[in-house]
Amino acid sequence: MIKTDIHERLIDLDKKHFIHPTSSLKLQNEKGAPFIFTSGNGVYLTDTTGRKVLEGMASLWNVNIGYGRKELAEAAYDQMSKLAFTNSFSSMSNEPAIKLAAKLAELAPGNLNAVFFTSGGSESNDTAYKLARYYWKLKGLPEKKKIISQKKGYHGVNIGATSATGISPFHTLTNSPAPDFVHVDTFSIDSLKACIEREGADTIAAFITEPVQGAGGVNIAPDGYLQEVRSICDEHDILLIVDEVITGFGRTGKMFACEHYGIVPDLMLFAKGVTSGYIPLGGVMVTDKIHQDLVELSDGTLLHGYTYSGHATACAVGLKNIEIIESENLVENSRLMGEELLNGFKELRMEFAFIGEVRTLGLIGAIEMVNPATKKRFDSLIAPRVSEEAAKRGLIVRTVVFEGMDTVVFSPPLVINKQEINELISILRSALVAVQESL
Ligand SMILES: Cc1ncc(COP(=O)(O)O)c(C=O)c1O
Repeated sequence: MIKTDIHERLIDLDKKHFIHPTSSLKLQNEKGAPFIFTSGNGVYLTDTTGRKVLEGMASLWNVNIGYGRKELAEAAYDQMSKLAFTNSFSSMSNEPAIKLAAKLAELAPGNLNAVFFTSGGSESNDTAYKLARYYWKLKGLPEKKKIISQKKGYHGVNIGATSATGISPFHTLTNSPAPDFVHVDTFSIDSLKACIEREGADTIAAFITEPVQGAGGVNIAPDGYLQEVRSICDEHDILLIVDEVITGFGRTGKMFACEHYGIVPDLMLFAKGVTSGYIPLGGVMVTDKIHQDLVELSDGTLLHGYTYSGHATACAVGLKNIEIIESENLVENSRLMGEELLNGFKELRMEFAFIGEVRTLGLIGAIEMVNPATKKRFDSLIAPRVSEEAAKRGLIVRTVVFEGMDTVVFSPPLVINKQEINELISILRSALVAVQESL
């Protein structure tokens, strides 16, 4: 715990100097940061006032191996002591990047065997769109440029990734989405087919989907959907990009969520869980076929690269993180604890009439708030009140309240155990009681 005056001083400095991402600038200015965290251990975080909270979101769906893992600090220390960074432009390379690329090829479904490294999910998205367009250009089809994505899909905040994102407030922020992005209905084969018919396959470079939409409210692709999408894409020569930025590295109870559906995309995106958030890293994996075609047809320098593509320290941390995911069977734990989480949600649904659908896939889940009288969402939103009451009681969750949703979402670290799941459900229950009493 640190002294109150230091805490207050930090709050003041935060208000004055730190522009927070995806935050209400007004609220931050009025109320200050709700938490200033100083340390973490397993599924728990501690703040400047000494409060300990259970992180029901693994921060931003990413701290898969939990907080306070010294092994990752040591991996970073060892690598930084030898060689923190050297660039990967002009075909130069480094050992951790090569080893991580090979490890990812071993883990990824099918023949996704080559990796372009980035520093996060948004960069991975923009990279994938550019690679898809470049691919078709090299094939003599430069008109194949459009990227089809889904409503409620979230792909990040670069100009390209924002444009593919199918959540309208992200567009209206600046009213300047990029050209050649088209949105179809969520998990709707009919909508996708109609879009291809309308736009013309000869103008479409790729279709992108998350297997489980995270920021859009934890919407799980129904079985059969991705399989059908795969064959539609094949039929029309459209590349299939699967965004596994949240779902990768065990989040859904498989190493990659594509495995639930038995499909192999042409490009697969990852970030977040690859390092459990200990250091920024992301990437795009491509199949052998795409890789070979790019190599054979390319006509000069691939003029796309980030200074930190293949960052040695980030890759060393990624390797250690994956080693831990494997050696501690965290993918299986995600599956098993996901079932416990779902059981807990089902119990709560029996107890609270305003809980509608509940769902999980591994350790990603959601509960929807619905007015039992109308079966629609309440006029005044419930989920933010649940989240506020939960935070007061020591549980962090997130809410999704756009596009008609009033949903509380969950994504705890994959190291969570049965006792901690029970604690999560029990805090949630008392938060729901408080909200019920205020209805
Ligand atoms: C599915 C998905 N794709 C891409 C992104 C963007 O990743 P980043 O915030 O690392 O740029 C996110 C972030 O939440 C995401 O959930």
